[in-house]
Amino acid sequence: MTNETYHVPIMLNEVLSLLQPSRGGVFVDGTLGGGGHAEAVLERLPQSGRLIGIDRDADAIAEAGKRLLRFGNAFTVVRGNFFQMKSLLEGLSIQRADGILLDLGVSSHQLDEKARGFSYNEDAPLDMRMDASAPFRAYDVVNGYSFEELARIIREYGEERYAGRVAASIVKAREKAALDSTVELAQLIKNAIPAATRREGPHPARRTFQALRIEVNGELEGLKKAVDDAHSLLAPNGVLAIITFHSLEDRIVKLTFREYENPCTCDPRAPMCICGKKPTARILTKKPLVASESEQEENSRSRSAKLRAIQKL
Ligand SMILES: C[S@@+](CC[C@H](N)C(=O)[O-])C[C@H]1O[C@@H](n2cnc3c(N)ncnc32)[C@H](O)[C@@H]1O
Repeated sequence: MTNETYHVPIMLNEVLSLLQPSRGGVFVDGTLGGGGHAEAVLERLPQSGRLIGIDRDADAIAEAGKRLLRFGNAFTVVRGNFFQMKSLLEGLSIQRADGILLDLGVSSHQLDEKARGFSYNEDAPLDMRMDASAPFRAYDVVNGYSFEELARIIREYGEERYAGRVAASIVKAREKAALDSTVELAQLIKNAIPAATRREGPHPARRTFQALRIEVNGELEGLKKAVDDAHSLLAPNGVLAIITFHSLEDRIVKLTFREYENPCTCDPRAPMCICGKKPTARILTKKPLVASESEQEENSRSRSAKLRAIQKL
């Protein structure tokens, strides 16, 4: 497997022009993956610059570690959750960063690796853990959650219109035997969704699989705090760039960035600000950047990507 097939970095040029690694300093890639973005940042860093790469997936750590070995001491790899970025960096005696990148979600490698159970096209056990040593799998959600809990996550995290029907058919099927096959679950979801809807758009299981993955990996629960921590780590003029792949993540990032640019809580009709809260960052992307047409054609995963960035004041 080459690094190109592991994961193709999304909106690479756009990320580089926002982060501007040639300024030097400390850069953090909180979602190292195959190391594509990290490699491009490292190639542009001046001699004194450093990049810390974090990932919760041991496979990604091994792959990116090999790819970026040639950068010597300029590159440090850390296995962990970027939700704990502050303490992971403290462990390296780093208190400030000049650029931070978060490229959220799963890598193409994770999606393609059959045994990890992310894909509804490949038969595998219901797993979906990004960190294969974590104790909680998709199996536990599918077989252990109540009808109400299932319906809620499928509706909220999958934005699935037929969440109730999907949850009901899961609950009915597991009465006979526990569900532990991705393809079996995908077929069950397909059958639960009205035939007319099934013909439109992506595979009918896509939304429910997304919901399960988000739940298993706790992707949304701590995101706002993780963005706040990343913002607080930035040095003056430091840049935080975040790529999201679905509207729930993008909404959290958008609203959090707006709070930094306009934290004032005074009544908008008030003649002057009395809350005293001052902006702490400016938004560099008034509208989220999306992948160019040619990138979208070459890499279908880039089609749902949105890139937003702020610069610390
Ligand atoms: C979209 S890929 C990143 C690809 C990378 N930018 C590249 O160029 O190869 C996302 C990676 O982030 C990791 N990841 C997702 N959420 C994480 C979290 N909360 N903490 C640490 N790593 C995470 C995943 O394991 C995956 O390897």
